[in-house]
Formats: sequence, structure tokens, C-alpha cells
Amino acid sequence: MTSSELWTRATADRYDAEEAEASSAAVLGPTLAFLAELAGDGRALEFAIGTGRVGVPLRERGVPVAGIELSEHMAAVLRRKVDERTLPVAIGDMASTVVPGGFTLVYLVYNTITNLLTQDEQVECFRNAARHLEPGGRFVIELGVPPLRLLPPGQVAVPFDVSRHHLGFDTFDLVEQVLVSHHFTRDGDDDGRYRRENSRHRYAWPAELDLMARIAGLQLERRVADWDGSAFTQDSTKHVSVWRKPA
Ligand SMILES: C[S@@+](CC[C@H](N)C(=O)[O-])C[C@H]1O[C@@H](n2cnc3c(N)ncnc32)[C@H](O)[C@@H]1O
Repeated sequence: MTSSELWTRATADRYDAEEAEASSAAVLGPTLAFLAELAGDGRALEFAIGTGRVGVPLRERGVPVAGIELSEHMAAVLRRKVDERTLPVAIGDMASTVVPGGFTLVYLVYNTITNLLTQDEQVECFRNAARHLEPGGRFVIELGVPPLRLLPPGQVAVPFDVSRHHLGFDTFDLVEQVLVSHHFTRDGDDDGRYRRENSRHRYAWPAELDLMARIAGLQLERRVADWDGSAFTQDSTKHVSVWRKPA
């Protein structure tokens, strides 16, 4: 049983079009180079592989990739791109589902650790990554830094996108460490109608993730601000972190 919200067929069918820019070669190039180098001659496992935005091109680069994905609708979109023998996907919860074989790399990108809404489940997700790693293997997470510096007392929401077709803002429960992302998206042009969607996320600071990694027997090896390897600073809005399972 997971606290994650289940991604629907409608969301899955829209995902690739909505993430076209994030799926472009220009954006994905540094991500794929980073992950391929860490996978080395071994196999990679993507937690929450979705429609294969990252996993499919990584496989095309020659890295054997497997995936775990909660939503069969998201996995069905991936399956239109690549067959099960080339890229096997297990339907299940990334905090508990076990797939066969050992991996040199487990990765979880695009803020998706936050889809696990409790600390216990996030810890279990780290443990599950460690369970799949060969000695010396790495767990990589891409995650935004919680934008709380943008939330002064008395303000209830932080906008993250105000553009022609999309208005997005986050609201926060600072006690439960949960944020809700609100999206108002215009599908057509000027009919004045917006599609409204919300998603819940448990945000976590890098230091909390390091503690989860330690609980799972992993050690922080590297933390950078982005896939291009730029330095992580106090002004960074996201991070790419690498933990290693001792050899
Ligand atoms: C933002 S998408 C990311 C998909 C893909 N990794 C990418 O980068 O495009 C989040 C994905 O996480 C999946 N997901 C959410 N909770 C999950 C869980 N507990 N276990 C496995 N997958 C989960 C969703 O179904 C969805 O496919």
C-alpha cells in the first residue's frame, strides 16, 4: 500500500506532449551522459520510469535499463515505444517492489521522491534502492530544493509558472512538510476555460535525504546543482545527488 497518488490514463496520454521540452535532446543530453557514466558496464534501474522519458533514450545509448512504475497507464505509453524484452518494467511501488538482478545504478529523477508522501516511505525507497545495488553502485536523485525562502510569513502560495497556457503555484503545509502543486492549464486558445489539477508532494531537504541514505547504508559521494555538474550553492534551486553503496 502506497501513499502515492495514482497517475491516470488521461494524465499518461498527455504526459509526453506536456513534457516535450524536458524530453528534448538538448535538455536530456547532460542527464543521459551523467547517468550513462555512472552505469558504466552495468545495468540501470529507474524508479518511477513513467513513459520512459529518460529510460528509453538511456537504453538507446546502450545502457541496459529496467524500470519500476506504479501507474500501468504511464507504463502502457512507454510500452508503445519499446518492448518488454528490451526494457522490462515491473508495475509496483518503488518503495517496496523488487526486480531481479543487480544494478550499478538506480536513479529517481524529476522530483519524484516527493510522490511518496511520508518520511517512512521515502526511507523505504532509499532502502529499496540499496537492495538493488551491487557493491560500489550508485543511487541518484534529481530534486528541487524546497522553495520556502520564497514564502514569507502571511503569504500562502509560491508561483512557479505564469505563462500563456499555464498558471502553476505551490501551497504549503509546513507542519506536515507537504506541498500541493496547483496547475491551471489552457488546452485550447481563447475559450477562457482552464483544466485544474492538483498534486501532493512531501518535500525534503538535501540533509534529510543524506540521513535517509545513511539509514539505507549509502554514503553521499557527490551533490551538484544540475546534470551539467555545476556547483551546488546556497542559491541552487535543485540538486542532483549521488550516494554510493560501499564496495
Ligand atoms: C513526474 S513523473 C516522472 C516519470 C519519469 N521518471 C520522467 O522523468 O519523465 C512521476 C512518475 O512517478 C510515478 N510514481 C508515483 N509514485 C510512485 C511510486 N510510489 N512507485 C512507483 N512509481 C511512482 C508516477 O506514476 C509517474 O509515472
